[in-house]
Amino acid sequence: MKKIEHIGIAVANLEESNKLFKQLLGTAHYKIEEVSSEKVMTSFFQAGPNKIELLASTAPDGPIAKFLAKKGEGIHHIAFEVSDIYAEMERLRAEGFRLLNEKPKRGADNKLVCFVHPKSANGVLVELCQEIREEK
Ligand code: CO
Repeated sequence: MKKIEHIGIAVANLEESNKLFKQLLGTAHYKIEEVSSEKVMTSFFQAGPNKIELLASTAPDGPIAKFLAKKGEGIHHIAFEVSDIYAEMERLRAEGFRLLNEKPKRGADNKLVCFVHPKSANGVLVELCQEIREEK
Protein backbone atom coordinates (compact mmCIF):
# COMPACT_ATOMS: atom_id res chain seq x y z
CA MET A 1 0.00 0.00 0.00
CA LYS A 2 1.29 3.41 -0.92
CA LYS A 3 0.08 5.75 1.81
CA ILE A 4 -2.89 6.76 3.89
CA GLU A 5 -5.22 8.36 1.36
CA HIS A 6 -7.73 9.71 3.84
CA ILE A 7 -9.33 9.18 7.22
CA GLY A 8 -13.11 8.76 7.27
CA ILE A 9 -15.09 10.26 10.14
CA ALA A 10 -18.76 9.46 10.77
CA VAL A 11 -20.84 12.50 11.68
CA ALA A 12 -24.48 13.01 12.54
CA ASN A 13 -24.95 16.34 10.79
CA LEU A 14 -22.79 17.14 7.79
CA GLU A 15 -23.55 20.85 7.75
CA GLU A 16 -22.57 21.33 11.40
CA SER A 17 -19.49 19.18 11.05
CA ASN A 18 -18.39 21.03 7.92
CA LYS A 19 -18.36 24.19 10.03
CA LEU A 20 -16.57 22.49 12.89
CA PHE A 21 -13.87 20.98 10.68
CA LYS A 22 -13.40 24.27 8.89
CA GLN A 23 -12.66 25.84 12.27
CA LEU A 24 -10.43 22.94 13.25
CA LEU A 25 -8.41 22.68 10.04
CA GLY A 26 -8.50 26.33 9.06
CA THR A 27 -9.80 25.49 5.62
CA ALA A 28 -13.23 24.72 4.22
CA HIS A 29 -14.21 21.44 2.57
CA TYR A 30 -13.42 21.39 -1.13
CA LYS A 31 -16.21 19.12 -2.22
CA ILE A 32 -19.39 17.37 -1.24
CA GLU A 33 -20.30 14.15 -2.94
CA GLU A 34 -23.13 11.69 -2.48
CA VAL A 35 -22.45 7.98 -2.80
CA SER A 36 -25.98 6.68 -3.19
CA SER A 37 -24.95 3.01 -3.20
CA GLU A 38 -23.58 3.53 0.34
CA LYS A 39 -26.43 5.82 1.41
CA VAL A 40 -23.92 8.43 2.39
CA MET A 41 -23.12 12.08 1.81
CA THR A 42 -19.43 12.86 2.03
CA SER A 43 -17.39 16.01 2.28
CA PHE A 44 -13.66 16.27 1.79
CA PHE A 45 -11.07 18.47 3.46
CA GLN A 46 -7.44 18.85 2.56
CA ALA A 47 -5.02 19.32 5.43
CA GLY A 48 -1.54 19.66 3.98
CA PRO A 49 -0.90 16.41 2.12
CA ASN A 50 -3.71 14.60 3.92
CA LYS A 51 -7.43 14.29 3.41
CA ILE A 52 -10.30 13.97 5.81
CA GLU A 53 -13.61 12.55 4.63
CA LEU A 54 -16.71 13.31 6.66
CA LEU A 55 -19.53 10.82 6.21
CA ALA A 56 -23.18 11.44 7.05
CA SER A 57 -25.98 8.98 6.44
CA THR A 58 -28.68 9.73 3.91
CA ALA A 59 -30.95 6.91 5.09
CA PRO A 60 -31.85 5.49 8.51
CA ASP A 61 -30.82 1.98 7.41
CA GLY A 62 -27.48 3.00 5.86
CA PRO A 63 -24.12 1.75 7.14
CA ILE A 64 -23.22 5.13 8.64
CA ALA A 65 -26.57 5.38 10.46
CA LYS A 66 -25.90 1.93 11.91
CA PHE A 67 -22.35 2.88 12.90
CA LEU A 68 -23.58 6.06 14.65
CA ALA A 69 -26.26 4.13 16.53
CA LYS A 70 -23.69 1.61 17.72
CA LYS A 71 -20.59 3.68 18.32
CA GLY A 72 -21.51 7.33 17.97
CA GLU A 73 -19.56 9.89 16.00
CA GLY A 74 -15.86 9.38 15.40
CA ILE A 75 -13.26 7.73 13.24
CA HIS A 76 -14.98 5.32 10.90
CA HIS A 77 -12.25 4.05 8.58
CA ILE A 78 -8.70 4.52 7.39
CA ALA A 79 -8.22 4.48 3.65
CA PHE A 80 -5.00 3.38 1.99
CA GLU A 81 -4.10 4.22 -1.55
CA VAL A 82 -3.12 1.27 -3.70
CA SER A 83 -1.94 1.20 -7.28
CA ASP A 84 -3.72 -2.03 -8.23
CA ILE A 85 -6.79 -2.72 -6.13
CA TYR A 86 -7.44 -6.11 -7.74
CA ALA A 87 -3.94 -7.33 -6.93
CA GLU A 88 -4.13 -5.94 -3.39
CA MET A 89 -7.51 -7.63 -2.77
CA GLU A 90 -6.07 -10.89 -4.05
CA ARG A 91 -3.05 -10.53 -1.78
CA LEU A 92 -5.16 -9.77 1.31
CA ARG A 93 -7.54 -12.64 0.58
CA ALA A 94 -4.58 -14.99 0.35
CA GLU A 95 -3.37 -13.64 3.72
CA GLY A 96 -6.72 -14.57 5.25
CA PHE A 97 -8.30 -11.14 5.52
CA ARG A 98 -12.06 -10.89 5.21
CA LEU A 99 -13.08 -8.43 2.51
CA LEU A 100 -16.47 -6.76 2.65
CA ASN A 101 -16.94 -6.78 -1.07
CA GLU A 102 -16.21 -9.33 -3.75
CA LYS A 103 -15.27 -6.76 -6.34
CA PRO A 104 -14.08 -3.17 -6.08
CA LYS A 105 -16.91 -0.68 -6.22
CA ARG A 106 -17.14 2.95 -7.13
CA GLY A 107 -16.63 5.18 -4.10
CA ALA A 108 -16.43 8.93 -3.63
CA ASP A 109 -13.67 11.07 -5.11
CA ASN A 110 -13.21 9.10 -8.34
CA LYS A 111 -12.00 5.96 -6.61
CA LEU A 112 -12.46 2.24 -6.84
CA VAL A 113 -12.79 1.01 -3.28
CA CYS A 114 -12.92 -2.16 -1.24
CA PHE A 115 -13.31 -2.55 2.53
CA VAL A 116 -11.57 -4.99 4.84
CA HIS A 117 -13.73 -6.24 7.71
CA PRO A 118 -12.73 -4.65 11.02
CA LYS A 119 -12.85 -8.08 12.66
CA SER A 120 -9.83 -9.11 10.63
CA ALA A 121 -7.91 -5.87 11.27
CA ASN A 122 -7.94 -5.36 15.04
CA GLY A 123 -11.21 -3.44 14.96
CA VAL A 124 -10.16 -1.03 12.24
CA LEU A 125 -12.29 -0.69 9.13
CA VAL A 126 -9.74 -0.45 6.33
CA GLU A 127 -10.56 0.95 2.92
CA LEU A 128 -8.43 0.27 -0.11
CA CYS A 129 -8.77 2.85 -2.81
CA GLN A 130 -7.38 3.24 -6.26
CA GLU A 131 -7.79 6.28 -8.46
CA ILE A 132 -10.04 5.50 -11.41
CA ARG A 133 -8.03 5.84 -14.57
CA GLU A 134 -10.41 6.58 -17.40
CA GLU A 135 -9.57 4.42 -20.37
CA LYS A 136 -10.72 5.17 -23.84
CO1 CO B 1 -13.33 6.66 2.55
